Amino acid sequence: MRRPLVAGNWKLHCGPQDAERLARDIRNTLLGSRHQVDVVLCPPFVSLTAVRNIVRDTPIGVGAQHLFWEDKGAWTGEVSAGMLHDAGCTHVIIGHSERRQHFGETNATVAKRLRAALKANLVPIVCIGETLAEREAAVTDQVVASQIREGLGWLSEAAWATVVLAYEPVWAIGTGLTATPEQAQAVHGRIRALVSELAGPAAAAALRIQYGGSVKAANAASLMAEPDVDGALVGGASLDASEFAGIVEAASR
Ligand code: PGA
Repeated sequence: MRRPLVAGNWKLHCGPQDAERLARDIRNTLLGSRHQVDVVLCPPFVSLTAVRNIVRDTPIGVGAQHLFWEDKGAWTGEVSAGMLHDAGCTHVIIGHSERRQHFGETNATVAKRLRAALKANLVPIVCIGETLAEREAAVTDQVVASQIREGLGWLSEAAWATVVLAYEPVWAIGTGLTATPEQAQAVHGRIRALVSELAGPAAAAALRIQYGGSVKAANAASLMAEPDVDGALVGGASLDASEFAGIVEAASR
């Protein structure tokens, strides 16, 4: 049985003070709930420590939204996997579509970041997904397959056990448009089949595949009910403690 993972991607929201408040709200809201879900909060770099301090004695994990692949050196402005681990991170998001779209992230750089994350014992949440134009051109499967083959195709079967995939159709991110449960399941199922081809049926069966793109408390239950949807990567709705807790509850059922 795969344990769902619900991660809040706070994006460019919440400096340390706001992050502390939001993390405390989320922690307190989840405290009484007996959910069976892994929960991770991903604030901006500068707020990682503040969030870490709030969730320190809880099962809630802390993730960064990005990392650089070098360990150290003359790379002004970058943050390494080791530094994130040092700061108390358990997870890191890699290859988010906003990074691909605005900051030149490619499948090749995803592979480099992924290697660095695994080396530092961070759980990578690797994002994949097609744009609206790609969906309309009926090439969703090809796009997602090449993102997986080029970004993750080199992983050993053992390494797959630590990786989380997040299927996020780009047209659903921050738009209020959500993939239907059937659309999500169709892609998730094909992703799992491809991973089975690459790494074997056991690795594929154990792999957690999150759905992301305008997930809210109101639509989470039907998405999470699909057999190959193992949690959610949540943007906007993760900035509201009760919305986020609603998604965690839905994933737990
Ligand atoms: P959204 O973002 O929930 O605001 O659509 C999801 C994401 O970008 O991970």
